[in-house]
Amino acid sequence: MGLKITIAKNEAEFDRIAAERIIQEMQYNPKAVIGLSTGQTTRNMHAIASEWYQSHPFDVSGITLFGLDELTNVPREYDGACYTMIKNQIADIIGIKEENFIMPLTISDDFEQECRIFQKALEDRGGIDLQILGLGTNGHLGFNQPGTPFEQETWISKMDEELEAKVRRETGITNKEPGGLTLGIKNIMHARKILLAAKGKTKAEIVKRMLHGPVSIDIPASILQLHPNCEFLLDAASAKYID
Ligand code: GLP
Repeated sequence: MGLKITIAKNEAEFDRIAAERIIQEMQYNPKAVIGLSTGQTTRNMHAIASEWYQSHPFDVSGITLFGLDELTNVPREYDGACYTMIKNQIADIIGIKEENFIMPLTISDDFEQECRIFQKALEDRGGIDLQILGLGTNGHLGFNQPGTPFEQETWISKMDEELEAKVRRETGITNKEPGGLTLGIKNIMHARKILLAAKGKTKAEIVKRMLHGPVSIDIPASILQLHPNCEFLLDAASAKYID
């Protein structure tokens, strides 16, 4: 079975197609449980989906949004926290009810428990209908870095040094270690539908390894080759080495 690969001719088309996938899911399934990702890749797709909704509103009272991952030991209101990004970029704009916006807490005495609560909240809603994924330049998904077992469920991972330094600089935290709470690879693979979105030339090399290399924990995103309903959305730049 071939992989489902969509190559947009440029960034604008990439952003529009990505936004359409979110809107289509919401309209097709009024009770959809949709997982979003943060970062440069998804910023425009959230903006375009929000604009589209504002000019063509529809009932989203049954839609659940959540974030794939979240920072730990930083305030939720920090503008680098996934909660704040998703809230400001899309959830508030389209009017997702507070109880239908599911995010792990960023401050807790017991993050193991936060992982269980987060995972159970998604299971209680029937699991994930659509998961949007960004792609790390090392092949990571969420905070699942290379080496993460494919059987991993929701857990707390370390962030890479560069991100940790940025978070420390921007939040001023010194007393605790910022980490990353993330759905595990196993949870991601249980999503009924996945959209892996990767744009720009910095992703070209890892896109090739994700799609054409062996399935290996060295490239977490390579597992998506085995998902029965995953669309790989690329732009011309990230698809440079794809045949
Ligand atoms: C971070 C996030 C991931 C995201 C990735 C890609 O690592 N934890 O969820 O997918 O960045 O970010 P960008 O789209 O900015 O390349």
